[in-house]
Formats: sequence, structure tokens, C-alpha cells
Amino acid sequence: MCGIIGYTGSRNAAEILINGLEKLEYRGYDSAGIAVFDGDKLNVCKEKGRLENLKILLKKHPVNGNSGIGHTRWATHGAPSKINSHPHTSMNGKISVVHNGIIENYREIKVFLEENGYKFISDTDTEVVPNLIDFYYEGDFLCAVKKAVKQLNGSYALGIICSENKDELIAVRKDSPLIIGIGENENFIASDIPAILSETKKVYFLNDNEFAVLTSSKITVTDFDNNIIEKEIHEVSFSETDAQKGGYEHFMLKEIHEQPKAVNDTLRGRLNSDLNLLLDFINKEFLTTVNKIYIIACGTAYHAGLVGKTVIEKLAKIPVFAELASEFRYNNPLVDKNTLVIAVSQSGETADTLAGVRLAKTMGAKILSISNVVGSTLTRESDYVFYTYAGPEISVASTKAYTTQLTALYLFAVYLAETKNTVLSSELDIVKKDLLSMPKTIENVLKLEEKIKLISNKIFNEKDMYYLGRGLDYAVAMEGSLKLKEISYIHSEAYAGGELKHGPIALIEDNTVVIAISTNKNLSSKMESNIKEVATRGAYTIAFVNEDTNCIHSLCDEIVVLPAKCTLLTPISTVVPLQLLAYYVAKNKGYDIDKPRNLAKSVTVE
Ligand code: AGP
Repeated sequence: MCGIIGYTGSRNAAEILINGLEKLEYRGYDSAGIAVFDGDKLNVCKEKGRLENLKILLKKHPVNGNSGIGHTRWATHGAPSKINSHPHTSMNGKISVVHNGIIENYREIKVFLEENGYKFISDTDTEVVPNLIDFYYEGDFLCAVKKAVKQLNGSYALGIICSENKDELIAVRKDSPLIIGIGENENFIASDIPAILSETKKVYFLNDNEFAVLTSSKITVTDFDNNIIEKEIHEVSFSETDAQKGGYEHFMLKEIHEQPKAVNDTLRGRLNSDLNLLLDFINKEFLTTVNKIYIIACGTAYHAGLVGKTVIEKLAKIPVFAELASEFRYNNPLVDKNTLVIAVSQSGETADTLAGVRLAKTMGAKILSISNVVGSTLTRESDYVFYTYAGPEISVASTKAYTTQLTALYLFAVYLAETKNTVLSSELDIVKKDLLSMPKTIENVLKLEEKIKLISNKIFNEKDMYYLGRGLDYAVAMEGSLKLKEISYIHSEAYAGGELKHGPIALIEDNTVVIAISTNKNLSSKMESNIKEVATRGAYTIAFVNEDTNCIHSLCDEIVVLPAKCTLLTPISTVVPLQLLAYYVAKNKGYDIDKPRNLAKSVTVE
């Protein structure tokens, strides 16, 4: 959610910081600011609202100087305002800080500092940090930072500068991502790779409680005890243009269209055309001891987990519990050393998912993470990692992350079934073949775009829409409904077809939009009854069916026939038109599709 960038070198720092913050806009924010040393003077410029406001301010009052820090804030402690935005500076103007995360014990630190004469001007937890560093400062910047950080509870990624050490930028993190970008006679810090991708592709991933001191020519990383830590340089494999819109009006549309390639990238090197699985990322001996699986995740990733549950149970014959990561911890999960916990997270930084993983680890479980972000906190805390390789997903509304998470879960289910020998290999071969043809299937489904656009023109003014499905279609309905509400702000719910009569049918009146997903020929007669039930009560029905679904054309106001057949993999292709529908409904409404209100790309606080 919040974004950090920092720079030290010989170029105009303000320009580099603003440029970096622009690349982080997709994370969602409500205010922005920078602090730059201009000669002896520390210039702090902040504004509420869009980065554009800060840019206008900087045009009026240009800031020179070659080192500084920048931040986009998403309010947690204190309302969105100029005063609460970052950077925050110590009372005497010496230390300036940008912070992602939450300082849980900030109240007691504040009292302690107030007793020592410090005064505060914001409502934030962050403001205690520069003042605490100042309290400990006796001429050694790093030493003061370490003493202060020792006193902090909670999560933090910090970028810190000090007016008495103008050429130094200090970075430290705990439970919040932070990377170091390595340049030529200049160095960077950032909360996310896109922020610095136009400047360098060489990065260090900072671990918890590692302190990096950056000057233009040197980066030194130490621990609390001043031991030097040798970091491994990672070469970022995606280009800056990969992180741009590539000709599409929105990142979301671009990412919807990237799905054939993204799914292919997830499969690449893992399943070959001879139908051999090339997976060796998990200890086979351990797998044979696993007697229960939990899948924990949030939002879209959770919806992927719901499909994963059904598929793993069907193929590998192991009980699987798909749980919202935010609930998992509070439900007394029955986890032990024979439990595998699969944590699904695009960003690998979602606070609830990480908390669930940490709990499961203390109970003896092994963790397999399915993530898109190499080096993310989740992947570093997991025993086994399965990267989806979907490429950067910028749109807040997740699309290609979902289809690649599904692909990863299918691959894992097949791998587990093969390892445990639970189904005939001929049955697994069918799933493998379907996986290999999925990129082509998605390409064909994307050809429905014009039709979906026309449907969206008819329904975009509705206040409520309901999604119905059975079996795997129900899980997909949940994802379709989430997409719609996230970006079009239309109230929407997904119901299992069989539940309709148990309550939701009371909501149906003339012209209520009901989107029925019926891709499974074995369940289509039951869906047919559900469509009839809502149609006779006046609903405007839109059905999404496969080409081999029994025909329900005459019953529906709109019918979309997907160029796909009913298989275990149907969810991957079915979700695509639902993503397009949400996109075009939101576009008709003229909303900010890539940055929907109140939402952030990764939710790094509870
Ligand atoms: C999806 O469109 C969402 N914006 C959201 O539900 C997201 O999937 C969720 O926050 C989990 O994020 P993660 O995959 O990065 O953990």
C-alpha cells in the first residue's frame, strides 16, 4: 500500500524520487511527499491527494539536491492529510524518515519522548521514529538508528536521512518489503522493484533487521551487532516496458490479455509436451507423509484456493481446507507436522497470509507458497516455493495472478497425485493435455471481448448484480463478483445455485441482473432450474456456458458460449469473460479502473 523510494548520487534527487513514486502509484495512496537535502537545508515537500498535487508544489518551489527519500502514504494512523503524510522529521529538523508498516508501541514511545521534551505535530505512529533516532543521536547516525529500531515493535520498512550525514541513506526493514537498487555512483532504496526499474536492474533484497547504509559509491549491510552481511545481487528479469501499459487503456485490460502468455510462463519448464512433469521443488518423502492440506489466502488468491481444494481432493485424495488467511488464525486450525500449508499470494506481502504462515510454522507444518514476486517475504519464509511467473501485475484488480495461481495449483495437484499414485496416469494425462492447451483456449475466449462489451453497455447502470454457479463454477462466480464490485462499485454477490431457494431468491425482482455460470454439463440441468426460478421472477439473465454445455439458450436474455469444453480446468477459461465484463462495466461508468477507490494492491497491514 504505501510506497518508498530513496536516492543518493549526483543527479537531481527530487526528479528521481517523483519518477519512482509514479511507478508506485498502482499500490494505492492518499498523499505523497519527499525530503531532499538542498545544500545544508533539508527540504520537505508533501501534499494530500494525487502525486500531481506534489508535482505542482515542486514546480512552484523547485528543490535541488542529490539525496533524499520519498513516499506515497495510505492512511492507517491518522487521516489522510498533508501533516500526516511522509516524510516525517524530528522536532529539530535533523532526521527525516519514510515508513511502511505499523509501529505497534508508538504510544508508549511517544510518552517516553514527550517526557524528554519532544513535541509531535501529526497523528501518525511514524513520527516517533525520527524523534527516537534523534534522541539516541550522539554523532553516529547508524548507531542511533540501531538503538531506536531495537525499541520498535511492529512492522516497518524505513528510509532514513540525517542532516549531519548528508551523503548517507539508511534503510532497515522488519515484516515489510524493502529492496536496495545498485547503480553506477548512485544507489537507491524502494519498497517495490518497479520504482527503480528505469534506473537499475541490480538489486539486493533486504531481510528483517538488516541495516543498509547507502552512499553514492558504497552499500554496507550489517546486523544489530555490526557484523557485515554479504548480500547476493539479484538481476531483475522483467523490463520497464513490461511494467507499463503496452498500448492498452488500462493495466487491467493489458493484464487480462496477457493471460495466455502468463499461463504459458507458469507451465514452462514444469510440464513438457511429452506430458512429463519437471517439478522438483518439494521433498517427495515429505509429501508421502502429508495427510491434510490447508490453503490460506485472501481475496482473489483465496478464490484460487477454493478451486485448488476441489482439484487436489479429486486428484490426490487428501482432505484440503481452503481458508481465508484473515480467519485461519482464529479458527483453531488442526495443524501438525503432517500438514502442508499452501499459502497463495500474488504479492507475497499480504499481512494476513504471512501471519497465518507464521502460526502454521510454529505448529510444525511445512509451507508451500505460490507467489508471483520473487524474493517476497512469503517466499523467503516458506519451505517450498512455486513461482507463478505471471510478470508484474500493476492493476489493483487481480486477473493474470488468479489464472496463473490456478495453473500452479493444478500442476501441484497432478504432481501430488502422481507422487501418491492416487489416480490412473491416463486420467492425469488428460489434465496435463488440457493444461498445455490452456493458453490457446484463453486466446480463443478473449475473442468474445466485443460481445462482452455489448452486454456491459446494457447493464452498467444497475445497482445490484448476482452471480450463480455450482461446483467449480461457484468458485469462479465468487471471483467474477469480486472483480465487478472492486472496480465498478456495483453491489454484487455470488451464490451457489442450490442456495438460491434458501434466501437469496427473495432479492430477485423485475430486471435484477443474474449472471449464471454453467460450464459443467453434469450440473447444467440443475443450473437450468435456477435460471428458470429467477427468470420467472423477472430477472435479466446472462448465462456463460461452454460449447458442450446442454443448451439453455431459450431461457436467457443473453448467452455467451465459451469456445471451451467442460474439463476439470474449466475455471481458468471461464473467469476470463467475467474479468472482461467487470472491466467494461467499470469503463462505461468512467471509473479509475487500475486504482479503484479504497483499495490497495497489496494489503501489508491487518
Ligand atoms: C484482487 O483483485 C484483490 N485486489 C485482492 O483481493 C487480492 O487478491 C488480495 O488482497 C490478496 O493479495 P495477494 O495475492 O497479493 O496476497
